[in-house]
Amino acid sequence: MQIGVMGVGYVGLVTAAGLAETGNFVIGYDIDQAKIDRLRRGELPIYEPGLDRLVERGQSQNLLHFTERLEELVAQAELIFLALPTPSGPDGHANLSYLWQAAETLAARIQTPKILITKSTVPVGTARKLQAFFDARLPGLVQVASNPEFLREGYAVEDFLKPDRVVIGTPDPTVAEKLHQLYLPYTRQGNPIYIMDWESAELTKYASNAFLALRVSFMNEIARLAEKVGANIDMIRLGMGADSRIGRRYLFAGIGFGGSCFPKDTRALAATAREYGLQLSLVEATITVNETQRAHFFEKVESYYRGQLSGRTFAVWGIAFKADTDDIREAPAIEVIQRLLAAGAHLRVFDPAALPNLQKEHPNWPLYYAKNPYDALEGADALLLFTEWGEFRQPNWQKMKDLLRHPVIFDGRNLYDPALLRQEGFDYLSIGRAPVYAYSSTLARS
Ligand SMILES: NC(=O)c1ccc[n+]([C@@H]2O[C@H](COP(=O)([O-])OP(=O)(O)OC[C@H]3O[C@@H](n4cnc5c(N)ncnc54)[C@H](O)[C@@H]3O)[C@@H](O)[C@H]2O)c1
Repeated sequence: MQIGVMGVGYVGLVTAAGLAETGNFVIGYDIDQAKIDRLRRGELPIYEPGLDRLVERGQSQNLLHFTERLEELVAQAELIFLALPTPSGPDGHANLSYLWQAAETLAARIQTPKILITKSTVPVGTARKLQAFFDARLPGLVQVASNPEFLREGYAVEDFLKPDRVVIGTPDPTVAEKLHQLYLPYTRQGNPIYIMDWESAELTKYASNAFLALRVSFMNEIARLAEKVGANIDMIRLGMGADSRIGRRYLFAGIGFGGSCFPKDTRALAATAREYGLQLSLVEATITVNETQRAHFFEKVESYYRGQLSGRTFAVWGIAFKADTDDIREAPAIEVIQRLLAAGAHLRVFDPAALPNLQKEHPNWPLYYAKNPYDALEGADALLLFTEWGEFRQPNWQKMKDLLRHPVIFDGRNLYDPALLRQEGFDYLSIGRAPVYAYSSTLARS
C-alpha cells in the first residue's frame, strides 16, 4: 500500500519503518526540518533499540522516504497516519492544536480519496469531529479511522511488529477491510485485530493506559504501607503476581510512572469524564498517588540529611523516564532534580541515552554531565537512582565505595538486594522495603 505518516517522532518513525518492513511504500513527513535532515542522512533523531536497522533497511530498499513537503506525502499516499503530539493542556485536557493544524493543512491539499488514520492518542469524539470537518471541506474524499498505538518505548519495534492486538475504529467496512489487510502480516501468530466504532477504539487506548498506571500507583501505595509496617513490597509483588487473575506485569513499586503517555493520558481521561459530568475517582487517585510518590522519594532523601541538603553533592544514575529510551518527558528524575537544585544541592548526572535531551530541555541547570556512571559518583555524598538501565544492575560495589564520599544509595527502582547492600556496607533506601543503615550504624547514627 501507499502510506504517509505525518509526524515522525517516537510513534510515527516506528510506524513508518514498521509499515515499510512488510513491503509498503511509506513516506514520512515532519514539520521539524532538522529531524527530516537527520533521517535523510541516515541518523536517528531518537534512541529506540533496533529502530536504526529497520529505518536503514526501509531506506535501502527504497520503501521508506522522508520529506519536508506535505504535498509530496499527499500526492503519494492513499493511507495517511497522524502521529502528532497530543500533550496535556493546562486543565488536563489533551491539546489537539497539532492535530487540527494538520487537518487544516491536509484539507487544503487533498484532491483524491484518502483514509486518514489517527495513531495519536486522542480524546473520545475526535475521529467523529475529524470526519465531520472533512465531510464539510471535502465531501466524500476522506474517511477517518482511529487506530490507537500501544507500543512501549524501549520495545517499540518489537511491539509494532508483533502487537498483542490491533484496534481499529471505523464505521466503514471498506476502510476496516483495508486496515485489516494492512495489519495481517503483523498478527500471523493469531493475535487479534479488533474492528470497532470510533469511540470505543479511542476509549480503549485511554482505558488501557489508565489501567496500567493504576496498577503502578496501587503498588506504590501498598509500598508506602509496607514501609510503615515493616513488610517487603518485593515479596508482596511476587505473592500477588503469581495469581493468574492478577498477573506479574506492571506490579513494580518505584518512584512512579512518567513519560509522554501515562501522566498525560490519565489526566486527559479524567478531564474527558468531567466534561460528561463524571468523576473517575480511580483515575484521579492514580494521578495523585503518582505525584506524591516523587515527593515521597525526595522527602526520604531530605529526612536522611535532616533537611540539610544545601551544599551536598548527589550522583544521579538515570534521567530517562524508563530504561532503553532517551525520552525525559515527565520523567520523575527531572522533578526530583529540580527540587534538589532548589534546595542548594549539587548534582553529577549520568544516563546512557538521555543526557542530550536533558541539556536541550534544561540548558541553564547547573549540572555536571558525567562521562560514565562511575564518573558521576566521584566525591558525591550519595547516589540517587532513577532509571532501571541494564548497566546499573551489577555495579562494582568496591569501586562505588572508593568514589563516593559516603556509601549511601537512594534507589527509586528497587534494583538492588538490600541484604547484599548491607553486606557491602551501604546505607540503602529503596521503595517499600526496610531501609539498610549498614554504613551510618557504624557512625553511631541515632
Ligand atoms: N511515545 C509513546 O510511547 C506513545 C505510545 C503510544 C501512543 N503515543 C501517542 O502518539 C502520539 C505521538 O507521540 P510521540 O511520542 O511520537 O510524539 P513526538 O513528539 O515524539 O512526535 C511527534 C512529531 O510530530 C511532529 N509534528 C508536530 N506537528 C506536526 C505537523 N503539523 N505536521 C507534521 N509533523 C508534526 C513533531 O515535530 C514530532 O516530530 C501522541 O498522541 C502520543 O500520546 C505515544
